[in-house]
Amino acid sequence: MKQVPASRSSSLEISDSLSCDYLIIGGGVAGLSAAIELADKGKVLILTKDSADESNTGYAQGGIAAALGREDSTYLHTKDTMAAGAGMCRHEVVLLTVEEGIPLVRRLIKWGFKFDRIGRRLDFTREAAHSARRILHAYGDATGSEMVRTLSDRVQKLNIPVKSFSMALDLLVKDGRCLGAVVLDAASGQAKAVLAKAVVLASGGLGMVYAETSNPTVATGDGFAMAYRAGAEMADMEFIQFHPTTSCLPGAPRFLISEAVRGEGGKLVNARGARFMSGYHPQAELAPRDVVSRAIVEEMRRTGEDQVYLDMRPLGRERIKQRFPSIYRFCQQYGVDPREQPVPVRPSAHFSMGGVRTDIYGRTNIPGLFACGEVACTFLHGANRLASNSLLEGLVFGSRAARGAMAYLEEEEVSFPDKIFYRGFKPSGGIEDCDARLDKWRQRMWEGAAVVKEPRELRKLVRLLGKELEMLISSGLSKKEEFELLNIYQVSSLIVQSALKRMESRGSHFRKDLPRPDPALAGWHQLARYARKRGKEAVVIERINIT
Ligand code: SIN
Repeated sequence: MKQVPASRSSSLEISDSLSCDYLIIGGGVAGLSAAIELADKGKVLILTKDSADESNTGYAQGGIAAALGREDSTYLHTKDTMAAGAGMCRHEVVLLTVEEGIPLVRRLIKWGFKFDRIGRRLDFTREAAHSARRILHAYGDATGSEMVRTLSDRVQKLNIPVKSFSMALDLLVKDGRCLGAVVLDAASGQAKAVLAKAVVLASGGLGMVYAETSNPTVATGDGFAMAYRAGAEMADMEFIQFHPTTSCLPGAPRFLISEAVRGEGGKLVNARGARFMSGYHPQAELAPRDVVSRAIVEEMRRTGEDQVYLDMRPLGRERIKQRFPSIYRFCQQYGVDPREQPVPVRPSAHFSMGGVRTDIYGRTNIPGLFACGEVACTFLHGANRLASNSLLEGLVFGSRAARGAMAYLEEEEVSFPDKIFYRGFKPSGGIEDCDARLDKWRQRMWEGAAVVKEPRELRKLVRLLGKELEMLISSGLSKKEEFELLNIYQVSSLIVQSALKRMESRGSHFRKDLPRPDPALAGWHQLARYARKRGKEAVVIERINIT
């Protein structure tokens, strides 16, 4: 592998490249679904940053929402999704998701997905803001890993190659068309090009932007930042969902305590042992996520503690162990027996409703670039995602983005350039204290731009970001951690600037200075774009109404 300094200032010519028809970036539910759909349509390559099975999908506990129960209907599922989305969901998108999701869930069963059952009937659980028991689950609370297992088996059967430990650094865009990605090869530490006639971005979430998150460490928002740098429209980036109950056990990493625990009867109590949710919302523990997260933050403030507790004992000793085996094992491992005592919890960053704006076939504003899953924004979730709609989204839009990409290649003649130049990769002495900077920044985001936002704090973050970004870009980047830091800064910038621009509170976006929704802003979305002003990076935001 050779990297030749090019004549153009600070660009490298990348001479090491491989090519395919369809490049899928990400190995979660959306990426795998897209790959399966495309398997016999051309040469497909799946790229994953870490090991092939490490993604947000694998950690999903609660399950997958599907209106398959006797008392349920797609009408009710649509209604609940729209209500959770607080006036920001696109009805057409919600309807097609809940309807198309049903045959896709049935297909999973055909492929061997082992949903939990009572006798021969599927076992549905309830989660917050669902008006029916409609959440399917596997091995109690291990739905995500069963999803990865089922889809990966399929990918293997179809002989689709997966290139793991390969972080995509940037999208290759030439003459306005996406033609692949520049990738960091973990073995050599060098940048390579993967040329592709169409790219499906399915790179998952961004929870690592915050110090407190339910997401795994791979979720550094890489896809969001890459698409933004490439000129994609980034929609509704202010809408970040905070899951109310992540465990905070001494010495343990954060671990999600599924909403299904509350759906099955778990109760929240404060440090004084008193239940509090009924004082905040008539649905108490099953109120929408944003309401529960804010109530917990308020209880922590009132009691001066940095946690509340989830009491699982109302479920009964046997049920705890049998229905939530992973949660039970995790708590036990860190010295808390949920059958005997309440589990300490607090909210954490969980899911981004915003992302790369796409239509219903995953098409972005950049020809050749398609996006699906958490990195995309189809306006399915609006301002707040209904629990367990994300695996469903991954199935439906993974497959739709694949169809979008196929149609694109049927219509377009795509050829690859002879030479590839890349400016982003610049070996340097390394960023000083990269890890420490990252930790400090994530803590700042948690304190200044999380569950409850204050404009003064948001403005402070904008100023700091300007300086950090300049430092980073002028130093040169070549290591995985350095690119992750850049991505986290740029995603933070999108979140913070979009939050400042939305002059109201709505769904997951809560501003202390403007605590209520402004009816005039319902249905108005924000599109952020990369721009340069006076030689510096700037986020430009425009408003559109498309609901
Ligand atoms: C959970 O199990 O609480 C998470 C489910 C989701 O975020 O959809």
